[in-house]
Amino acid sequence: MSEQERASIRDRRLQYETAGLELGDLSIDPMEQWHVWHSEAFDAGLAEPNTMILSTVDFQSHPDSRAVLVRDADHFGFTFFTNYVSAKSHQLEARPVGAGLFAWLDLHRQVRVRGAVERVGDRESDAYFASRPRPSQVAAWASPQSEVIRDRHELMELVAEHERRFAGEPVPRPPHWGGWRLLPEEWEFWQGRPSRLHDRFRYRRVEDQWQIHRLAP
Ligand SMILES: Cc1cc2nc3c(=O)[nH]c(=O)nc-3n(C[C@H](O)[C@H](O)[C@H](O)COP(=O)(O)O)c2cc1C
Repeated sequence: MSEQERASIRDRRLQYETAGLELGDLSIDPMEQWHVWHSEAFDAGLAEPNTMILSTVDFQSHPDSRAVLVRDADHFGFTFFTNYVSAKSHQLEARPVGAGLFAWLDLHRQVRVRGAVERVGDRESDAYFASRPRPSQVAAWASPQSEVIRDRHELMELVAEHERRFAGEPVPRPPHWGGWRLLPEEWEFWQGRPSRLHDRFRYRRVEDQWQIHRLAP
């Protein structure tokens, strides 16, 4: 690491001068609050504001994280689409729980969610798959996600093979591709404030109601 990079990692401190967050600013429904913040991230021009860092648990109880794009966010939870034989899907089949992180760093905000994860129904996956651009549909067939491949040439050969296979016809959804939904049971909204005295609010469901508590930063 260069001296400059070392100094920038160790010593750079951004002061979070944003307006604070009070209990009264929050919606009683955390998904509604998420939509307010997601819209503000979108309006601020942040790249891919629907990116969720999804953490799962592997077979040795070790955590594993990666980014996914949330394609639906409703009162049930956050839906994303992926390969059902990927590492993440194997982990979710065995342990259907996950944690999600939305990191809107330019707005000095993060949202954390935790909960059960379930497969979405075939019709929902079919509908989303049909809305994807054709090259993405072909890629879903061609890429053996999370497996070792020899080189990029092997991947492009697989793409060409599936382009030939579906030439002149619609690309159906592969049986090994579809959606998962993270159903948050706990949420945290975090807003950066000066001197590391940030605002944090946690939502927990208690008998069909969300209880909101402020947490120390
Ligand atoms: C911004 C961003 C968005 C991504 N969105 C998705 C997605 O929606 N679905 C997906 O399968 N992979 C997505 N990926 C790739 C995943 O992070 C990951 O590399 C891939 O799903 C394999 O993960 P796994 O081996 O843990 O299953 C995205 C990556 C980035 C950086």
